[in-house]
Amino acid sequence: MIYLDNAATSFPKPPEVIQAVRDTLETIGGNPGRSGHAGAVAGGKIMERCREKAAEYLGVERPEQVIFCLNCTDALNMAIRGTLHEGDEVIVSHGEHNAVMRPLMGYHDAGKITLRILPPDENGLLSPDAVREAITGKTALCVLCHASNVTGVIQPARQIAAACHSLGVPLLLDAAQTAGTEDIAAVGADMIALPGHKGLLGPMGTGLLCLRHGMLPRPLREGGTGSASDSLRQPAMLPDRLESGTANLPGIAGLEAGIDFVSRHGGAIREYEHALARRLREGLQNIPRVMVYGAEQAPRTAVVSFNLPGMDSGEAADALARQQIALRGGLHCAPSIHAWLGTTQTGAVRASLGPFNTEKDVDALLLAAQKISRGENE
Ligand code: ALA
Repeated sequence: MIYLDNAATSFPKPPEVIQAVRDTLETIGGNPGRSGHAGAVAGGKIMERCREKAAEYLGVERPEQVIFCLNCTDALNMAIRGTLHEGDEVIVSHGEHNAVMRPLMGYHDAGKITLRILPPDENGLLSPDAVREAITGKTALCVLCHASNVTGVIQPARQIAAACHSLGVPLLLDAAQTAGTEDIAAVGADMIALPGHKGLLGPMGTGLLCLRHGMLPRPLREGGTGSASDSLRQPAMLPDRLESGTANLPGIAGLEAGIDFVSRHGGAIREYEHALARRLREGLQNIPRVMVYGAEQAPRTAVVSFNLPGMDSGEAADALARQQIALRGGLHCAPSIHAWLGTTQTGAVRASLGPFNTEKDVDALLLAAQKISRGENE
């Protein structure tokens, strides 16, 4: 199988990541922060190291401002639900994923918040001026999808952060598609939610919420932290405030190895994936009647969405799977961006490149797309 679904989760994982997960399961007998014996202490050290490396890699001032989460959705929920109050206004871009829209729509439908959804320009880009103009005295948060999981278009996040900050509004950055390849630290966001299992190349079941100094979301989950155990109340300090219950230690060990990997190779991975994405995009554009999405002019991640002639995207993805090519059709949990593209009915087929793909993989997809487009489906 040729794996071209890295925007959903990266695969394969670097051998170091697999080894770190295995080593932890085989050698660490103990629950980090819960006991004083050697296994628990060794587990605690893994968490400490991963937190320190994540803070350094993502430009977070102090390690305790990095919170271990289940995934990016969990981190976004923590940031959104832990920050908003009744009566707040929230600004979002048109391109948000359901991980952002569903928690916000729940509050909106209950009459608790006002939601302002800002449209993009013709290239899919949100204007920092439009954000500045939309901010009112009640705006409590702006949420921005750094790069679309459908078109790959990367927003001018640094300028949008500056627009928010000029009027005292915090920015929550959804870095689901950019962590590991783009310079997230340079954005200057107040909160960053990211998955551990995509561009950071760690295992599924890992994610991070990074908080600027002074950001203190209310906890969604309360419980044992291994700290202040004489108190019946949730500790106020980070990270314990937001990290109740036993951590995913094998996952965190794998994430540490993934962060090591992207810290060493991040720039090269980005260039490599982009070259593959260019090859794929150009190849698809040369197949008659294939529709390729995402404006040429906008900066993009290594995601290429397209449709084959006369076919629903689910049908096309299934036909490609029968030719041993794994990618994702449908709406990608991002209905607004599909509405903007005009693909609500058909969805789109999305190929997303990773560091372990090759030109051969791209060419295999191009060949299969040509055959299916000509009606040679099997
Ligand atoms: N949000 C992930 C995707 O785009 C799962 O496939």
